[in-house]
Amino acid sequence: MPNYKEVYETWRQDPEAFWMAAAEEVDWIRKPTRALDDSEAPFYRWFADGSCNTCWNAVDRHVASGRGEQTAIIHDSPITGCQTKITYKALKSQVARLAGALAARGVVKGDRVIVYMPMVPEALVAMLACARIGAVHCVVFGGFAAHELAVRIDDATPKSILAGSCGLEPGRTLAYKPLLDAAIDQAKHKPDFCIVLQRPQLAAEMIEGRDLDWQEAVAAAEEVDCVPVGAADPLYILYTSGTTGQPKGVVRHNGGHMVALIWSMKYLYDVGPGEVYWAASDVGWVVGHSYICYAPLLMGCTTVVFEGKPVGTPDAGVFWRVIEEHGIKVLFTAPTALRAIKRDDPEGAFIRQYDLSAMQALFLAGERADPDTVLWCQAHLDKPVIDHWWQTETGWSIAANPLGIETLPIKPGSPAVPMPGYRIAILDESGRPLPPGTLGAIAIELPLPPGTLPTLWNAAERFKSSYLAHFPGYYETGDAGMLDRDGYVSIMARTDDVINVAGHRLSTGAIEEVLAAHPDVAECAVIGISDSLKGQAPLGLVCLNKGCGRPEEEIARECVGLVRKEIGPVAAFKLCVAVERLPKTRSGKILRGTMVSIADGKSYKMPATIDDPAILDEIAEKIAGLGQPGP
Ligand code: COA
Ligand code: AMP
Repeated sequence: MPNYKEVYETWRQDPEAFWMAAAEEVDWIRKPTRALDDSEAPFYRWFADGSCNTCWNAVDRHVASGRGEQTAIIHDSPITGCQTKITYKALKSQVARLAGALAARGVVKGDRVIVYMPMVPEALVAMLACARIGAVHCVVFGGFAAHELAVRIDDATPKSILAGSCGLEPGRTLAYKPLLDAAIDQAKHKPDFCIVLQRPQLAAEMIEGRDLDWQEAVAAAEEVDCVPVGAADPLYILYTSGTTGQPKGVVRHNGGHMVALIWSMKYLYDVGPGEVYWAASDVGWVVGHSYICYAPLLMGCTTVVFEGKPVGTPDAGVFWRVIEEHGIKVLFTAPTALRAIKRDDPEGAFIRQYDLSAMQALFLAGERADPDTVLWCQAHLDKPVIDHWWQTETGWSIAANPLGIETLPIKPGSPAVPMPGYRIAILDESGRPLPPGTLGAIAIELPLPPGTLPTLWNAAERFKSSYLAHFPGYYETGDAGMLDRDGYVSIMARTDDVINVAGHRLSTGAIEEVLAAHPDVAECAVIGISDSLKGQAPLGLVCLNKGCGRPEEEIARECVGLVRKEIGPVAAFKLCVAVERLPKTRSGKILRGTMVSIADGKSYKMPATIDDPAILDEIAEKIAGLGQPGP
């Protein structure tokens, strides 16, 4: 078995042969004759002359090869106290029927379908049903409010929306349907019909002529077969935060996605058919797309849909209970979940109550894995704790420790080494490569490997300007970091206005747009300050209109409410203060970095170009008055 260096070198020497060999793991309808099509670079297409169906590969082929009775999905819902298991055979039938219900109402290849659902198996059924008929799904995270959903409806222009009647958060039931109705009201585009899954916890009111009951629609539907799609046809769109309030619709193609995910299951996670894989995330995020739904099913594993929290449902032992009960081989989650567990169970007492012998490794991603958390997990679990780095845009790991090839030495604070397909460069502002140990912008040489974004939905120019314009010949990741002499990468910060709150990617620009719409707010800035549990927390600084006369605290409270209403609870926007003025350079640029340093209690250099240094004292005083948790 070759080691990591040999595998990476094999790819570097002949990427075409490497990916064609990896593509052998897919059941193609028409085999591709080559891997990369760069005829329209920088819009790269992988396996473009191949045809395939992702649902066939994730579901039907396992039934055909004798895995029909194996559990495909375990729904473990400590929040409702229920557990369900669905075999591949049953999954095939559920998916084929839902696909039939969509097809019967005119949904065809290329049409978009929005999925707005909580963590129930039907969310995966919905995604797979779309894939089956070549429709492009667009899953919207349940923690987003109506306005965010409306923005996505207008951009994706779906023919249909599949929704759950409610989501369940600890101690409260969230009615999804009123949010869906409000979003459709707000949006210019209207879907032809909605299919609503009525959950027993809260039934939704249906709109005659537009809304259909999921169970009834499925019961009346015929099962339909998989439709052939081009390997470079879109499988899904997933919106993610950029620098403005308009989210970026990351497009994922069918063929390259399958090839990359199957490769990653085997060589990165070291998981094979019949094994149980658990990504404790949400279907609304890329981790949920790749590693709750597609990768484990493509590999013929059992995947877990977990409806609960790492703590409080009912306690900090729930992850370990799930691992013991279902024989989980790999757990993948965000560091913030482990920080929450560590806070409630610092001595790891719960860990010792469960038999974790089936577990081979813990994988972390979504935000920086701080060494404290990694070391705590390693000490208490006595398993490899693997940090790996990726983004919605890439769909799978840029850098990782490939356990299926060899376990490389773990360096806490680093997500290890580049995966085949990725050539990482650390660049200075002018695009010159920097030597090892020097902090710079992290860029990836083009072309990006299979499975990564080929473009942005409806926004090819934005794709070029956001990712490719700054460093010609490279994809700009938006992360800053460095490489060490062993080729290990460290991710230190974002270079843009994106912040990471509890592993959730948020745009400070989007929050600023909401604050700026408050009638008493003249100007504002949102920054991400350190938070011991969530990594970062957004803090809003608002300057009020002259002579507004209303109490500052009241306006700050309204701003908090406004962000929750417009963006949703997921923004976790709880800190807002009114300030006299914002610190700016003489050319008018807001000094966000300086304010972050002040809030985090770090030393900072007084910017030479600041227009009025005295403002910083007021900002420091106001932030201190918030009494926020701090770093
Ligand atoms: N639907 C509706 N609301 C949701 C939601 C959903 N799917 N998910 C979260 N929310 C709400 C929460 O209830 C919370 O509301 P509140 O302000 O009324 O308390 C708010 O959004 C913020 O959520 P979150 O930042 O997740 O905080 P939390 O206190 O509920 O939980 C953790 C903190 C650390 C336990 C939690 O963030 C966690 O488990 N994170 C794991 C990270 C993860 O899955 N990342 C995905 C990428 S890998
Ligand atoms: P998302 O697109 O929501 O997955 O967020 C991607 C961003 O999360 C990356 O660009 C990083 O800023 C951050 N991120 C993800 N994984 C890691 C990691 N392992 N270490 C540090 N940051 C990470």
